[in-house]
Formats: sequence, C-alpha cells, structure tokens
Amino acid sequence: MRVASFLLSLVGSASAAAVTADSLAVRTSPSVGAGCKALQKPLGDAVFLPKTNVYDYEAQNFWSNTEIMAPGCVFRPKSSEELATGLKALVAANAEFAVRGGGHMGIRGSNNIDGGVLVVMSNLTTLELNHDKSIVSVGPAYRWKDVYAYLGKYNLTAAGGRLGPVGVPGLLLAGGVNFYGNQVGFACTTVVNYEVVLADGTIVQANTKSNSDLFWALKGGSSNFGLVTRFDMETIPSRKVWAGTWTVAAKYIDRFLAATAKYASDIYDAKSHIVPALVPGDSTLASVILFYDSDNATFPDIFKPFTDIPTIASTMAFKTVAEFTAETGEEVVDGINDVFVAGTVKGTTYSELYHGISIINSTFFSQLPKLYAQIPTANISTIQLDWQPIGYDWIKASEARGGNALGLDSSKVYLCYAEVVEWIGSAYDDIVASWVEETTYAINNATQKAGLYDAFNYMGDSAGFQTMFTGYGEGNHQKLIKIAQKYDPHGVFQTLMPGGFKVY
Ligand SMILES: Cc1cc2nc3c(=O)[nH]c(=O)nc-3n(C[C@H](O)[C@H](O)[C@H](O)COP(=O)(O)OP(=O)(O)OC[C@H]3O[C@@H](n4cnc5c(N)ncnc54)[C@H](O)[C@@H]3O)c2cc1C
Ligand SMILES: *[C@@H]1O[C@H](CO)[C@@H](O)[C@H](O)[C@H]1NC(C)=O
Ligand SMILES: *[C@@H]1O[C@H](CO)[C@@H](O)[C@H](O)[C@H]1NC(C)=O
Ligand SMILES: *[C@@H]1O[C@H](CO)[C@@H](O)[C@H](O)[C@H]1NC(C)=O
Ligand SMILES: *[C@@H]1O[C@H](CO)[C@@H](O)[C@H](O)[C@H]1NC(C)=O
Ligand SMILES: *[C@@H]1O[C@H](CO)[C@@H](O)[C@H](O)[C@H]1NC(C)=O
Ligand SMILES: *[C@@H]1O[C@H](CO)[C@@H](O)[C@H](O)[C@H]1NC(C)=O
Repeated sequence: MRVASFLLSLVGSASAAAVTADSLAVRTSPSVGAGCKALQKPLGDAVFLPKTNVYDYEAQNFWSNTEIMAPGCVFRPKSSEELATGLKALVAANAEFAVRGGGHMGIRGSNNIDGGVLVVMSNLTTLELNHDKSIVSVGPAYRWKDVYAYLGKYNLTAAGGRLGPVGVPGLLLAGGVNFYGNQVGFACTTVVNYEVVLADGTIVQANTKSNSDLFWALKGGSSNFGLVTRFDMETIPSRKVWAGTWTVAAKYIDRFLAATAKYASDIYDAKSHIVPALVPGDSTLASVILFYDSDNATFPDIFKPFTDIPTIASTMAFKTVAEFTAETGEEVVDGINDVFVAGTVKGTTYSELYHGISIINSTFFSQLPKLYAQIPTANISTIQLDWQPIGYDWIKASEARGGNALGLDSSKVYLCYAEVVEWIGSAYDDIVASWVEETTYAINNATQKAGLYDAFNYMGDSAGFQTMFTGYGEGNHQKLIKIAQKYDPHGVFQTLMPGGFKVY
C-alpha cells in the first residue's frame, strides 16, 4: 500500500480502492478545526494557533520546502502524559493529526497536515545515561548531532544517522543505516526498550519481555502502532574514528564503481562502513564517505580499492563521531526542495553486484538529459546517486539482537541505492516528481530483467509513490498488520493519522 499522502489526494474519488468503507466513514466526519478545539480545553498551554511565534517556528521546521503545509494548530506536549491526554482528546473528537520528529521524511503529508493538528516532539527532551552508561535514553525531540554531542563527553556514541541534522525518531522507526552497521546491525536493533503512547492513551514499555511483538514491529514498522516518547538504546565506546570523504574525478567512475562492488561483495572488516556516491554536474564527481572505527589505524586494507584512486579532495582524519557528523551535515541545505528515492539490488558475487551497480548507474545517467531539458541548471542544487551496502555481518548482527521487521536475508548482500534531487523553486516540484518516478521504474525494470532486483525499499530513502511493507516479505507484512490491529483496534494510526507509510 502506498503512503497516505497519496491516499489523501484520492479521498472522495471513486478510484480510492485502497480506502475501506470503514476508514472513509471516519475520514469524512472530522471537521478541520475539531482537533485544535478538543485540545485547547485540557492542554491550552501546549496548543499554538497560527500567527503565534511557536506556530510560525514549528510549522516551518522541516527539512524540505515540499513538506511545508498549513496545519490548523501545533500541539507541543511537554511529557508523555500530555501527549497521551492529547491523543485521547483527538480520538474522542475524531480529529485528524500528523506527527513530526526531526522532519526529515521528505514526503509531503508524511509528517504534516493541512487544517488538522500538527503534533511536534520538540519538548520530549529526555537525554540520559543509565548507571553503567551502557544504555542512553533519548526523547524524540532530538537530532542525531545532539545525541552524539552528549555521548561524546563520555567517549561514547550510538548507532544513528550519518548526518548530524537528521531526526532520531523517524530514523529509528525506519531501520537506521549507520556507521556501525557491520558491527551492530540496523540502528533500530540497538534499541532495547521503547516507551509508547498507544491509541487509547495508555503508556506502555515495549522490550523483549513486555509487549515483545510491539517491540519487534517498531523496528522498521514506523508510525503504525503508537507514538514513541523514548528510545532506550545501546551505547558504543568511541573516542575517535578515522573518517572523511574521498573524492575522485569523473574519469575514474568505472574504477570507483568497481571498488563499490568489491567492498559490497566482501565486507571482511566490520569496523568499516562506506557511502559511495556519484554527483553528476558540470564536472561530475565520485565521492565516498569512508568510516573506520579506530582511533589509531589509517588506510585499512578494505578501503584500498578506493584509496588507490587518486583523490582530488580528501577530508580523511581522526575525529569524533560528533565532529564527523557535523562535517557531513554541512551538506544539508535548508529551505530548498528535496526528494529521495530508494531501490535495491541483491546478489552474492562481485560480478552480480557490479552488474547491478552498472545498470543503476547507466540508467540514471541516461535519464538526466530529460531533467536538464526541463529545469535550468541554476535551479538544480544537487543530484546524487548513492549506494548503501547491507551485507551478511550487518544482517547477522541485527538477527543476533533479536531482529527487525525489514525482512532481509543474511545469505545475500543488498545494495540499497538512493536517488537524490534537490532544487530551488516549487514550480519544478511536479517535473521532479514525474522524473524520479519514471527513472526509478526504468532502473528497477532493468535490474529485474537482469535477475538482480529486490522489492525492499529502505523507508528512510523512499519517496511517496513507492511501496513499502510488501518489500519486507509477505510474512512480515501480515505480522505487522496483526500487531497494528492488536494495539490499535480502531486503526487510529492509519485513519486519523494519515501521514507516513501505512501497513494497510
Ligand atoms: C539529509 C538526510 C540524511 C539522512 N541520513 C540517513 C542515514 O544516515 N541513515 C538512515 O537510516 N536514514 C537517513 N536519512 C533518512 C531518515 O532516516 C528519515 O528521513 C527519517 O524519517 C528521519 O527521521 P525524522 O525524525 O527526522 O523524520 P520525521 O519526518 O519527523 O518522521 C518520519 C515519520 O515518522 C513519524 N514519526 C516521527 N516521530 C514519531 C514518533 N515519536 N512516534 C511515531 N511516529 C513518529 C512521522 O509521522 C513520519 O511519518 C536521512 C535523511 C536525510 C534527509
Ligand atoms: C520546547 O521546545 C522549544 C523548541 O526547541 C524550546 O524553545 C522551548 O524552550 C521548549 N520548551 C520547554 C518547556 O521545554
Ligand atoms: C576520553 O578519552 C580521552 C582520550 O582520548 C581521555 O583523555 C578522557 O579522559 C576520556 N574521557 C572520559 C570521560 O572518559
Ligand atoms: C589500536 O587500537 C586497538 C583498539 O583499541 C588496539 O587493540 C590496538 O592495540 C591499537 N594499536 C596500536 C598500534 O596502538
Ligand atoms: C556509469 O555512467 C557513466 C556516465 O554515463 C559512464 O561514463 C560510466 O562508464 C558508467 N559506468 C558503469 C560501470 O556503468
Ligand atoms: C530559480 O532559482 C532562483 C534562485 O537561484 C530563484 O530566484 C527562482 O525563483 C527559481 N525559479 C523558479 C521558477 O522558481
Ligand atoms: C516497471 O515499470 C512499470 C512502469 O513503466 C512500473 O509500473 C513497474 O512497477 C516497474 N517495475 C518495477 C519492479 O519497478
């Protein structure tokens, strides 16, 4: 099933086949202002109407301009209890709402809403270590840079976003591709406990002992089960790491892509992580983030296929994770329009993976002239194509920690690609949207023909037109639906909260 912003645009039309009669009945009755009114009585000091400073700040506090909408009010709870009271009031009033953490899901309507209540997590600011510093409790207010800065004081870090500004809650609910993945798996698998506000307003803990089915579902199942008010996650000892970006000229693209396939096919050193990217433009570049979890070793052998290519710019050095994610975070430009699109090839051998990368590369580049023909280059901020290798160690480390809902098979290597387009001017939104859709289908048809396609789309990099939970495998998808029905029998998180990827 598609993301609900897509459903929203269909509501009222006879073609909305995916919307059941039940949910339509719920959807047609709420009046636009109902939620704001219902919240004002019990929680007046946490509700902010348009033309107030808090509303103006929170309603603009999103990564991409495409996410900005016009909510009827902002609800900013200061505790889990306030959030629970508010959620009960919204459900009683049959009122629609959206929820925003760090605001980095670049899909219009996934974390925002026109007319309804925008719930923001900005004041749920728990950030503390347990007695032996093995677990950090993090509220959904935070960006990863805040978490790394806090933990850095103790020579610790955690498995989270690779760019500092990215939000904590959305990343952990999607899975979490992180620098330590070959050692600990997806970031979500390092979460040992969630505090969750359920649809009926009860506040529960989810861990291996209590609500263990919910615990599993939150690891990749996103916002379908409850609102998470605290993540308790493992800490990782870390003083400094050897990390940076290694950039090479266009003439080395083939060698660069071969290095990517080589790395993916044999990730023999789990301290390593890479993010290889092609950046087309006037002078096309290839640039790879190299991360090595060591405060005393440089140029490890596993990076040789990259570091043997002459660099035109390198930032490789020892630095803390906080310093490094501030550096990578400089790439994030606020106040422009952005889209990410995800896709996956899988294989086991170098030649399969190289073939998959090559198809993605060639198809993507062959589509570019169509985009340049419609948007002046001055209005294109960035185009990028990158790959995230998820291999055996990563998936096994995830399984060893109890697994997650993503459904990846530890006998395969997954190369999850992401297309990134960033532009200036909302006039180009529709052009970019149809271009990425066409390009993604072209890539996936070509990889499918070669027998290398996998239906998994990494949620963190997915666009609104993409399917999500069918790519987790039919078994996991059905399991997620059952768990959603158990914890939220009236489907509040599918109907009253239409934004985000929905299990049904
Ligand atoms: C520049 C950039 C870099 C990125 N780097 C990485 C990376 O290194 N690794 C990676 O894995 N991903 C990465 N991502 C993807 C990222 O994981 C997603 O964008 C993720 O959604 C960000 O979380 P957020 O809190 O900012 O999102 P939001 O947009 O705030 O939320 C995402 C979804 O989760 C829901 N939600 C938010 N908070 C809660 C809550 N507390 N309870 C229930 N539902 C909630 C929202 O309603 C929304 O549907 C990156 C994205 C960007 C834009
Ligand atoms: C709530 O969050 C905002 C934005 O981060 C901050 O300015 C404000 O001080 C916070 N209020 C409380 C009570 O924590
Ligand atoms: C962190 O590590 C540094 C050495 O890199 C050391 O000097 C410092 O005392 C450590 N701090 C803590 C809180 O352990
Ligand atoms: C480098 O650090 C590792 C891990 O802390 C340690 O085992 C190793 O002995 C160190 N090597 C050198 C040369 O200091
Ligand atoms: C990737 O695409 C570029 C640009 O079209 C091309 O020059 C290069 O040969 C391609 N490499 C591979 C391995 O597909
Ligand atoms: C193109 O970008 C410029 C700034 O570089 C901006 O002023 C202009 O409005 C944009 N064009 C459109 C059609 O939005
Ligand atoms: C192949 O392309 C068609 C549209 O041209 C699209 O509907 C279909 O989903 C694509 N296949 C894959 C696997 O993406």
